[in-house]
Order: sequence, then structure tokens, then C-alpha cells
Amino acid sequence: MNISKRIDNMTFSEIRKFIPYSDEAKERGIEVYHLNIGQPDIKTPEEFFEAIKSFEGKTLKYENSHGIKELINSFIKYYKSININLDKDDILITNGASEGILFALLTLCDFGDEIIVPEPYYTNYNNMAKMAGVKINSFRTYREDGFHIKSKDEILRNISPNTKAMLICNPGNPTGVVYTREEVRLLCDIAVEKDLFIIVDEVYREFVYGEEKFTSFMYMEDVQDRIVLVDSISKRYSACGARIGMLVCKNKLVSSEFMKLSQTRLSVSSLDQIGAAKLIDVTPQYLSDVNKEYEKRRDVLYEGLISIPGVSCEKPSGAFYIIAKLPLKDTNHFTKWLLTDFNLSNKTVMITPAAGFYSTEGLGLDEVRLSYCINCEDLKASIEILRHGIIEYKKHFK
Ligand SMILES: Cc1ncc(COP(=O)(O)O)c(C=O)c1O
Repeated sequence: MNISKRIDNMTFSEIRKFIPYSDEAKERGIEVYHLNIGQPDIKTPEEFFEAIKSFEGKTLKYENSHGIKELINSFIKYYKSININLDKDDILITNGASEGILFALLTLCDFGDEIIVPEPYYTNYNNMAKMAGVKINSFRTYREDGFHIKSKDEILRNISPNTKAMLICNPGNPTGVVYTREEVRLLCDIAVEKDLFIIVDEVYREFVYGEEKFTSFMYMEDVQDRIVLVDSISKRYSACGARIGMLVCKNKLVSSEFMKLSQTRLSVSSLDQIGAAKLIDVTPQYLSDVNKEYEKRRDVLYEGLISIPGVSCEKPSGAFYIIAKLPLKDTNHFTKWLLTDFNLSNKTVMITPAAGFYSTEGLGLDEVRLSYCINCEDLKASIEILRHGIIEYKKHFK
């Protein structure tokens, strides 16, 4: 008996492979600061829990495959507040953005089709593409440019007759890039020129800092029929465990085809939808306080990193990640060593080697992705651990 070639071709999470080492470190009494995951530590708004507590139904039924009316209406209201006008048929509730991305690929692409994605990119796109039988063709963006898009030619070079869509994450994980209006326009123009769909993952939309302005692809009126927007409450309301995401699409043919997939998986969790529907009552102050907190953390992590000799990174404008180059050859080995062989006053850090975010072999080997989902004091302590860890590591390895 053989398992499928499809599953064989998929990979285990690059981010999770160090968890056993971190568990062992904890068993040895070492405190581990987690700079490796995008799990916000911010409290989920009370409104979510209150809504679930007041649920009076006697049976947990399947809900409408499209999503419950109250939740869809609450998202229509939310989108209106950011100047995007939607009808109820433009929205499909999904099990997180993750299911939304898979639905988008399955609906837009045939087996063997290609999508283009700026590299480095969120690693789970790889497995999602493999599930859909789609090939990712990446085009490079560079740390030195803050991962902004510099070259139209570089993108065009990677588009073939089999390319059906671009998949863009804005603000970006793992890069923290926030694309300018000009970059968004450029990508839309390329989509028109090459007749591509645009799948855009905006789950970090609320995490844009300082003077930077966020431009949704949905603001580009002329490409509305090409866009499939992926969104989620996971990051916005620190509600990763609720598994509520959505697809937004104004192309009626595409959005009606999504229903085949959503009807096949029947329903999204009823209680999670009931809780999420009340998030619309959360005050704008909540989002702006959370935004300020992340901006502070970004500054602490960025300033700390560039104070370490040999470390270089650009200050990101959004999401909650930084890619940094370390003065080492193999950050994979360093990540493991930090957990197995190093501590500073009984504390260490868990980081993520960046190579897993690149699809081009050999890229990112000297880079790491750090998330700033822990508080400023712990971030400062983590910087000191990294600073001493790098010095100690270099005594033994290159
Ligand atoms: C870029 C990006 N898209 C999608 C997701 C998945 O979000 P969800 O929890 O809504 O499935 C993540 C989670 O980290 C992410 O970073």
C-alpha cells in the first residue's frame, strides 16, 4: 500500500520542527521566549466570549454553508468602515484564511497551473498550492529593499502561459512589507496585461505602523472582477483559535463557484461565527491600542537587532515580523543550538530560520524571521540572549 504522491510531496511545518527542542529545554528548566510564532498574546475582545455565553440554542446545528447572516452583515459593516462596499453575496465565511486560500486556488486554478508569489512568502502557501496541484513560481524581493517590489521585469519573467493568478500577502508575512499604492497599482496592471486573477491575503491589514498608508487591492476599481480577497479575524482580533476567515469576491461567477466547496464542507463552526459576529461592536480604540502596542514592539525589536554587531535588517512597516540577516552561515543549526546548547541566566529564545520562506534553494540560510508577539520587556531580554548567543556560537561554529 502506498500513500498518495500528493501528500508525499507536501512538507511538515518548518516553523514547528523545533518545538520538540524547545519542549526539552523547558523540561530542563530553561525559560524559552517565543519569537518564532505569529500567535498574538493580546486578549481576545470580551464581546466574543459574551456572545457565546448568551447562546441559548439547544442544538449545535450545521449553519448555512455561506456563513451566518449576522456575521456576514457585521463584515459588510466593517468593510464599509474602510471604504469597501460589499453585498452579502460578495462574502463567504471560511474556516480561517487558510481554508479561504485553498478554496481560491481550487476555484481559480487547474491541476498544473501556476501562480506567481513574491519571495520570501508565508510557507503554508506551499502546501496549499500542492493540495490544489498548483505550481508556485516566485519572484524575488530583497531584504535591502525592505522587500518592496522593484522590478516589473523580474515579475514578468516568472509569468508563463500557465500562470493563472498572483498570490500577494499585504502586509507581508514574513517580511513586514506594506506595499505602496504604486506597487499595488503595478501588480494590478500586470494582472490586467497578463490576464491573471489576484489572490490577496490581507489578514494583517490592521497592523500598519506610523505614517505608512495601507492600500487594499479592493481600492482598485478597474480590477474588481479579478480579485479574491482573503481575510480573517485571527490576527485582527487576536482570535486565532476561532477559525473564522472569509473570502471576498465581486466576480459573481467565481463567488458562486466557491459555494460548491463550502457546501461540500457543510459549515463553519456555529459558536465561533456567533462570537465573531459581535466583534463589530469592539470599539475602534481596541484596534488602535493594539496597533500602538505592536508598533512599540516593532521598534524595540528593530532597534535591538541593529545594535547587535553583524546583524542587519530593514525596519518593517506592517504585520508583526522582521527578517534579519545574522553574521552566521547556517541559521537552521543556530536555531537548534539556541534550544539545545545555550542559555543566558537560564533563558533562551526560539526563532525561525528564514530559508523555509524562500522557494529558491540556498536563499535565506543566514536569515531568521522574528515575530514580535511578546511584550517589550521579554523582547529586550530576547535581544540580549541573541546578542550573547551569537558571540558564543561563533566561538564554536562559523
Ligand atoms: C499570511 C497569512 N495568511 C493566512 C494565515 C492563516 O490565518 P487563519 O488563522 O485565518 O487561517 C496566516 C497565519 O499565520 C498568515 O500569516
